[in-house]
Amino acid sequence: MRRAKITGTGMYVPDRVVTNADLTQFMDTSDEWIVQRSGIRERRWIEPGQAPSDLARAACQQALEAASLEVSDVDCILLATLSSEHDFPGTSFFLHEKLGAGEIPCLDLRAQCSGFLYALSFADALVVSGKYRRVLVVGCEVHSTGLDISTRGRDVAVLFGDGAGAVVVEANDDPEDPSGLLELRLHAQGRHADKLWIEAPSSASSPVRLTHEMIDDGRVFPKMEGRFVFKHAVRRMPEVLHEALSAASIKLDDVGLFLFHQANLRINEFVANQLGIPPDKLFNNIERYGNCSAASIPMLLAECARNGRLQPGQIVCLTAFGSGFTWASAVVRW
Ligand code: ACO
Repeated sequence: MRRAKITGTGMYVPDRVVTNADLTQFMDTSDEWIVQRSGIRERRWIEPGQAPSDLARAACQQALEAASLEVSDVDCILLATLSSEHDFPGTSFFLHEKLGAGEIPCLDLRAQCSGFLYALSFADALVVSGKYRRVLVVGCEVHSTGLDISTRGRDVAVLFGDGAGAVVVEANDDPEDPSGLLELRLHAQGRHADKLWIEAPSSASSPVRLTHEMIDDGRVFPKMEGRFVFKHAVRRMPEVLHEALSAASIKLDDVGLFLFHQANLRINEFVANQLGIPPDKLFNNIERYGNCSAASIPMLLAECARNGRLQPGQIVCLTAFGSGFTWASAVVRW
């Protein structure tokens, strides 16, 4: 039976490091508050002139190189983001051009912090069905240019960072090679869409999408009901993780590495405690990058591939929760 397999990983973050202390120049906050509430110590912000598709390109080039492939070997590009370069066309089209891709299809996928796992699931379906042999899957976010970095927006602004991560998903037809994506489970609940969202610009706002008033009121910045999101995240993540493991007939104890979306270290520690996951099986990098939404899981994969945390044959469990609400989990044999 054909499986889809991750054969290369890559990541890119901008060089500009913004520490918690740096944020105190813009808003009334403190390193202590941010570290205690979120675990974040620093994040990366783009330099003027850098675009989301530049970050995505660097991550994709690394993933292609790790898979020993050229962009001309790829059949399709799926890009997950919530911070699109423009309203249209999608960021994937700017990436397509920067990668020098041929006339292959590309597409943006909008499922926020679960976006990468959604995209991975569609890549899996495309490969397993035989439609494509190789799909480039990338998560990419530039949050820094869309945050309210004043005291008004501090509850959200301190949490987010810029970055990109990418993987190459390829068909594995080798009966001797058991590695690949074993199970992916996706969920959504639109009822809570406005608990973590950006209201404007909106094509539902008549007669125009954007007014001066919307800008003045700060409705162009992300808003979050933090405690509500926290409560749902710590319930949904264990739920979907169990669902994916049970569908793959894998026991929790047999998982070698858990990689959770990097929204908040407290969420991840809470979930790990609930499930009885020992700390050495959980890898986080939020302290260095903040919440990079759709990029966070492929960035974790890329770091773990490079630091030796990912070993052939190991079972890896990827789990995310995000705006929408969306939540998802994937079980992978590396
Ligand atoms: N610096 C200093 N003080 C702050 C800051 C800040 N950056 N932000 C808020 N405060 C203040 C508030 O104004 C409030 O002050 P008050 O008591 O005088 O009114 C106080 O700190 C407490 O504010 P809360 O919002 O109640 O803080 P809470 O303890 O809930 O922590 C947090 C906020 C970290 C966002 C928390 O709700 C949380 O962990 N939520 C989970 C959601 C999350 O992390 N989402 C990430 C993105 S979503 C995703 O990716 C899935």
